Amino acid sequence: MQELIKIDVHDGSTKETLKQLRIAGEFYGEMGKRYEITGGIEVEEIEFLSAITSRPNLNVLDIGVGKGVSTVLFASLGNVDMVVGVDPYQSTEHQNSMTELCRILKIPLSKVVVVEKKSIEAKPSLDSIGKKYDFVLIDGYHSFDSTLVDFLVGHEFLNDGGFVAFHDCFYRQKQKVLNFVLKNRDYELVKLHPKCRRPLLLRSARFIWHCLKYKTSPIIAIKYLNPLKTDSSLVVFKKISGKEPFYWEFCGL
Ligand SMILES: C[S@@+](CC[C@H](N)C(=O)[O-])C[C@H]1O[C@@H](n2cnc3c(N)ncnc32)[C@H](O)[C@@H]1O
Repeated sequence: MQELIKIDVHDGSTKETLKQLRIAGEFYGEMGKRYEITGGIEVEEIEFLSAITSRPNLNVLDIGVGKGVSTVLFASLGNVDMVVGVDPYQSTEHQNSMTELCRILKIPLSKVVVVEKKSIEAKPSLDSIGKKYDFVLIDGYHSFDSTLVDFLVGHEFLNDGGFVAFHDCFYRQKQKVLNFVLKNRDYELVKLHPKCRRPLLLRSARFIWHCLKYKTSPIIAIKYLNPLKTDSSLVVFKKISGKEPFYWEFCGL
Protein backbone atom coordinates (compact mmCIF):
# COMPACT_ATOMS: atom_id res chain seq x y z
CA MET A 1 0.00 0.00 0.00
CA GLN A 2 1.18 3.55 -0.75
CA GLU A 3 2.29 5.72 2.12
CA LEU A 4 -0.55 7.74 3.66
CA ILE A 5 -0.57 11.44 2.82
CA LYS A 6 0.43 13.27 5.94
CA ILE A 7 -2.39 15.74 6.29
CA ASP A 8 -3.63 16.43 9.78
CA VAL A 9 -7.37 16.82 9.30
CA HIS A 10 -7.68 18.53 12.68
CA ASP A 11 -5.14 21.22 11.83
CA GLY A 12 -6.73 24.35 10.35
CA SER A 13 -10.18 24.76 8.79
CA THR A 14 -11.99 22.05 6.89
CA LYS A 15 -11.78 24.24 3.79
CA GLU A 16 -7.98 24.37 4.02
CA THR A 17 -7.80 20.61 4.54
CA LEU A 18 -10.06 20.05 1.58
CA LYS A 19 -7.77 22.23 -0.54
CA GLN A 20 -4.77 20.17 0.53
CA LEU A 21 -6.56 16.94 -0.32
CA ARG A 22 -7.58 18.37 -3.72
CA ILE A 23 -3.93 19.25 -4.43
CA ALA A 24 -2.77 15.83 -3.23
CA GLY A 25 -5.37 14.20 -5.53
CA GLU A 26 -6.11 11.41 -3.09
CA PHE A 27 -7.09 10.63 0.47
CA TYR A 28 -7.34 7.62 2.73
CA GLY A 29 -10.58 6.60 4.44
CA GLU A 30 -10.95 5.52 8.05
CA MET A 31 -10.14 1.90 7.18
CA GLY A 32 -7.03 2.89 5.19
CA LYS A 33 -8.75 2.55 1.82
CA ARG A 34 -7.32 4.87 -0.85
CA TYR A 35 -9.65 7.21 -2.75
CA GLU A 36 -8.45 9.10 -5.79
CA ILE A 37 -9.85 12.60 -6.25
CA THR A 38 -10.47 13.09 -9.95
CA GLY A 39 -12.49 15.74 -11.75
CA GLY A 40 -13.44 17.75 -8.66
CA ILE A 41 -13.69 21.50 -8.34
CA GLU A 42 -10.30 23.23 -8.30
CA VAL A 43 -8.57 24.78 -5.30
CA GLU A 44 -9.42 28.40 -6.22
CA GLU A 45 -13.03 27.32 -6.86
CA ILE A 46 -13.22 25.91 -3.31
CA GLU A 47 -12.40 29.42 -2.00
CA PHE A 48 -14.78 31.13 -4.43
CA LEU A 49 -17.74 28.80 -3.83
CA SER A 50 -17.47 29.16 -0.07
CA ALA A 51 -17.50 32.98 -0.45
CA ILE A 52 -20.37 33.15 -2.94
CA THR A 53 -22.55 31.01 -0.69
CA SER A 54 -22.09 33.23 2.37
CA ARG A 55 -25.77 34.01 3.07
CA PRO A 56 -27.29 32.34 6.16
CA ASN A 57 -29.40 29.16 6.22
CA LEU A 58 -28.70 27.94 2.71
CA ASN A 59 -29.81 24.76 1.05
CA VAL A 60 -27.51 23.58 -1.73
CA LEU A 61 -28.21 21.17 -4.57
CA ASP A 62 -25.05 19.58 -5.99
CA ILE A 63 -25.64 17.74 -9.26
CA GLY A 64 -22.63 15.48 -9.90
CA VAL A 65 -21.10 14.48 -6.55
CA GLY A 66 -18.23 12.38 -7.97
CA LYS A 67 -15.50 11.99 -5.36
CA GLY A 68 -17.34 14.54 -3.22
CA VAL A 69 -15.14 17.65 -3.05
CA SER A 70 -17.94 20.15 -3.81
CA THR A 71 -20.59 18.37 -1.72
CA VAL A 72 -18.27 18.13 1.28
CA LEU A 73 -17.21 21.77 0.90
CA PHE A 74 -20.84 22.94 1.02
CA ALA A 75 -21.62 20.63 3.94
CA SER A 76 -18.63 22.02 5.86
CA LEU A 77 -19.94 25.59 5.72
CA GLY A 78 -21.59 26.81 8.90
CA ASN A 79 -24.24 28.79 7.01
CA VAL A 80 -25.37 25.76 4.94
CA ASP A 81 -28.27 23.86 6.50
CA MET A 82 -28.51 21.03 4.00
CA VAL A 83 -26.75 19.70 0.91
CA VAL A 84 -28.48 17.37 -1.49
CA GLY A 85 -26.12 15.61 -3.89
CA VAL A 86 -27.35 13.87 -7.01
CA ASP A 87 -25.12 11.18 -8.52
CA PRO A 88 -26.07 7.77 -9.92
CA TYR A 89 -22.66 6.23 -9.26
CA GLN A 90 -21.90 7.26 -5.68
CA SER A 91 -21.86 3.78 -4.12
CA THR A 92 -20.58 1.98 -7.22
CA GLU A 93 -17.91 3.83 -9.24
CA HIS A 94 -17.14 6.30 -6.42
CA GLN A 95 -17.39 3.78 -3.56
CA ASN A 96 -19.10 6.28 -1.24
CA SER A 97 -16.10 8.57 -1.43
CA MET A 98 -18.18 11.60 -0.40
CA THR A 99 -19.41 9.92 2.82
CA GLU A 100 -15.87 8.85 3.64
CA LEU A 101 -14.59 12.41 3.10
CA CYS A 102 -17.30 13.70 5.48
CA ARG A 103 -16.26 11.11 8.03
CA ILE A 104 -12.56 11.95 8.03
CA LEU A 105 -13.29 15.71 8.03
CA LYS A 106 -15.80 15.27 10.87
CA ILE A 107 -18.67 16.79 8.91
CA PRO A 108 -22.05 15.66 10.23
CA LEU A 109 -23.61 13.25 7.75
CA SER A 110 -27.01 14.55 8.89
CA LYS A 111 -26.37 17.64 6.72
CA VAL A 112 -26.03 15.62 3.52
CA VAL A 113 -28.53 13.64 1.49
CA VAL A 114 -27.44 11.65 -1.55
CA VAL A 115 -29.94 10.94 -4.28
CA GLU A 116 -28.29 8.05 -6.08
CA LYS A 117 -29.94 8.65 -9.41
CA LYS A 118 -29.29 10.40 -12.70
CA SER A 119 -30.56 13.98 -12.59
CA ILE A 120 -33.30 13.04 -15.08
CA GLU A 121 -34.65 10.51 -12.55
CA ALA A 122 -34.13 12.65 -9.44
CA LYS A 123 -37.27 14.83 -9.43
CA PRO A 124 -39.51 12.48 -7.38
CA SER A 125 -36.79 12.17 -4.70
CA LEU A 126 -36.25 15.93 -4.68
CA ASP A 127 -40.03 16.42 -4.40
CA SER A 128 -40.14 14.13 -1.39
CA ILE A 129 -37.19 15.91 0.28
CA GLY A 130 -39.44 18.96 -0.11
CA LYS A 131 -36.77 21.69 -0.15
CA LYS A 132 -36.06 24.66 -2.37
CA TYR A 133 -32.41 25.57 -2.93
CA ASP A 134 -30.43 28.79 -2.82
CA PHE A 135 -27.47 27.46 -4.76
CA VAL A 136 -27.19 24.76 -7.42
CA LEU A 137 -23.87 23.43 -8.72
CA ILE A 138 -24.04 21.67 -12.07
CA ASP A 139 -21.11 19.31 -12.55
CA GLY A 140 -22.64 16.04 -13.76
CA TYR A 141 -22.15 14.32 -17.13
CA HIS A 142 -20.74 16.91 -19.53
CA SER A 143 -22.86 16.25 -22.61
CA PHE A 144 -25.21 18.94 -23.95
CA ASP A 145 -28.40 16.99 -23.19
CA SER A 146 -27.31 15.86 -19.72
CA THR A 147 -26.18 19.37 -18.73
CA LEU A 148 -29.46 20.80 -20.01
CA VAL A 149 -31.40 18.24 -17.96
CA ASP A 150 -29.23 19.03 -14.91
CA PHE A 151 -30.08 22.70 -15.38
CA LEU A 152 -33.82 22.08 -15.87
CA VAL A 153 -33.96 19.98 -12.71
CA GLY A 154 -31.99 22.59 -10.77
CA HIS A 155 -34.12 25.42 -12.17
CA GLU A 156 -37.27 23.71 -10.93
CA PHE A 157 -35.96 23.69 -7.35
CA LEU A 158 -33.93 26.93 -7.28
CA ASN A 159 -35.33 29.92 -5.37
CA ASP A 160 -35.71 33.23 -7.20
CA GLY A 161 -32.59 35.26 -6.39
CA GLY A 162 -30.60 32.04 -6.00
CA PHE A 163 -27.47 31.11 -7.95
CA VAL A 164 -26.61 28.31 -10.33
CA ALA A 165 -22.95 27.58 -11.14
CA PHE A 166 -21.84 25.45 -14.09
CA HIS A 167 -18.45 23.74 -13.97
CA ASP A 168 -16.15 22.85 -16.89
CA CYS A 169 -17.60 25.50 -19.18
CA PHE A 170 -14.73 25.34 -21.68
CA TYR A 171 -16.72 22.66 -23.55
CA ARG A 172 -18.71 23.85 -26.58
CA GLN A 173 -21.80 21.89 -25.54
CA LYS A 174 -21.76 23.46 -22.09
CA GLN A 175 -21.51 26.95 -23.60
CA LYS A 176 -24.60 26.10 -25.70
CA VAL A 177 -26.48 25.32 -22.48
CA LEU A 178 -25.28 28.62 -20.99
CA ASN A 179 -26.59 30.40 -24.10
CA PHE A 180 -29.90 28.57 -23.79
CA VAL A 181 -30.30 29.70 -20.18
CA LEU A 182 -29.41 33.34 -20.83
CA LYS A 183 -31.58 33.59 -23.95
CA ASN A 184 -34.58 31.54 -22.89
CA ARG A 185 -34.84 31.79 -19.11
CA ASP A 186 -34.90 34.72 -16.70
CA TYR A 187 -31.27 34.53 -15.48
CA GLU A 188 -28.36 36.97 -15.50
CA LEU A 189 -24.64 36.31 -15.80
CA VAL A 190 -22.79 36.99 -12.54
CA LYS A 191 -19.50 38.62 -13.45
CA LEU A 192 -17.59 37.27 -10.47
CA HIS A 193 -14.87 34.68 -10.86
CA PRO A 194 -12.49 32.65 -8.73
CA LYS A 195 -9.03 34.22 -8.33
CA CYS A 196 -6.73 33.53 -11.27
CA ARG A 197 -4.22 30.76 -10.63
CA ARG A 198 -2.12 31.19 -13.78
CA PRO A 199 -0.37 34.32 -15.13
CA LEU A 200 -2.21 36.24 -17.88
CA LEU A 201 -0.02 34.96 -20.71
CA LEU A 202 -0.51 31.35 -19.69
CA ARG A 203 -4.24 31.63 -19.21
CA SER A 204 -4.64 33.41 -22.56
CA ALA A 205 -2.70 30.60 -24.24
CA ARG A 206 -4.83 28.07 -22.38
CA PHE A 207 -8.00 29.87 -23.51
CA ILE A 208 -6.92 29.70 -27.17
CA TRP A 209 -5.90 26.05 -26.78
CA HIS A 210 -9.33 25.22 -25.27
CA CYS A 211 -11.11 27.05 -28.14
CA LEU A 212 -9.17 24.99 -30.69
CA LYS A 213 -9.42 21.70 -28.81
CA TYR A 214 -13.14 21.93 -28.01
CA LYS A 215 -14.07 23.86 -31.18
CA THR A 216 -15.75 26.68 -29.30
CA SER A 217 -16.44 30.05 -30.85
CA PRO A 218 -13.92 32.49 -29.26
CA ILE A 219 -16.67 35.15 -29.18
CA ILE A 220 -19.00 32.94 -27.14
CA ALA A 221 -16.16 31.48 -25.04
CA ILE A 222 -14.81 34.92 -24.10
CA LYS A 223 -18.23 36.00 -22.88
CA TYR A 224 -18.11 33.29 -20.21
CA LEU A 225 -14.40 32.63 -19.66
CA ASN A 226 -12.59 35.86 -20.42
CA PRO A 227 -8.89 35.12 -19.74
CA LEU A 228 -8.39 38.70 -18.56
CA LYS A 229 -10.65 37.87 -15.65
CA THR A 230 -10.51 34.14 -15.02
CA ASP A 231 -8.80 30.85 -15.73
CA SER A 232 -11.47 28.87 -13.92
CA SER A 233 -14.14 27.03 -15.88
CA LEU A 234 -16.88 28.01 -13.44
CA VAL A 235 -19.72 30.23 -14.72
CA VAL A 236 -22.36 31.57 -12.33
CA PHE A 237 -25.88 32.78 -13.14
CA LYS A 238 -28.42 34.43 -10.86
CA LYS A 239 -32.04 33.39 -11.19
CA ILE A 240 -34.24 36.45 -11.50
CA SER A 241 -37.51 34.54 -11.73
CA GLY A 242 -39.02 31.30 -12.97
CA LYS A 243 -40.59 33.06 -15.96
CA GLU A 244 -40.42 30.95 -19.14
CA PRO A 245 -41.20 31.99 -22.72
CA PHE A 246 -43.91 30.36 -24.83
CA TYR A 247 -42.57 27.86 -27.35
CA TRP A 248 -43.09 30.28 -30.25
CA GLU A 249 -40.82 32.77 -28.47
CA PHE A 250 -37.75 30.49 -28.61
CA CYS A 251 -34.65 32.70 -28.75
CA GLY A 252 -32.11 30.10 -29.95
CA LEU A 253 -28.84 28.90 -28.46
C1 LIG B 1 -16.86 15.98 -12.49
S1 LIG B 1 -17.61 14.84 -11.42
C2 LIG B 1 -18.22 15.82 -10.13
C3 LIG B 1 -17.15 16.37 -9.24
C4 LIG B 1 -17.66 17.06 -7.99
N1 LIG B 1 -18.46 18.22 -8.29
C5 LIG B 1 -16.50 17.45 -7.10
O1 LIG B 1 -16.23 18.65 -6.92
O2 LIG B 1 -15.84 16.53 -6.60
C6 LIG B 1 -19.05 14.46 -12.32
C7 LIG B 1 -19.85 13.31 -11.74
O3 LIG B 1 -21.19 13.35 -12.26
C8 LIG B 1 -21.74 12.06 -12.10
N2 LIG B 1 -22.81 11.90 -13.11
C9 LIG B 1 -22.73 11.30 -14.32
N3 LIG B 1 -23.92 11.34 -14.95
C10 LIG B 1 -24.77 11.99 -14.10
C11 LIG B 1 -26.15 12.34 -14.17
N4 LIG B 1 -26.88 12.04 -15.25
N5 LIG B 1 -26.70 13.01 -13.14
C12 LIG B 1 -25.95 13.33 -12.04
N6 LIG B 1 -24.64 13.02 -11.92
C13 LIG B 1 -24.06 12.37 -12.93
C14 LIG B 1 -20.59 11.08 -12.25
O4 LIG B 1 -20.62 10.13 -11.22
C15 LIG B 1 -19.35 11.95 -12.17
O5 LIG B 1 -18.40 11.48 -11.28
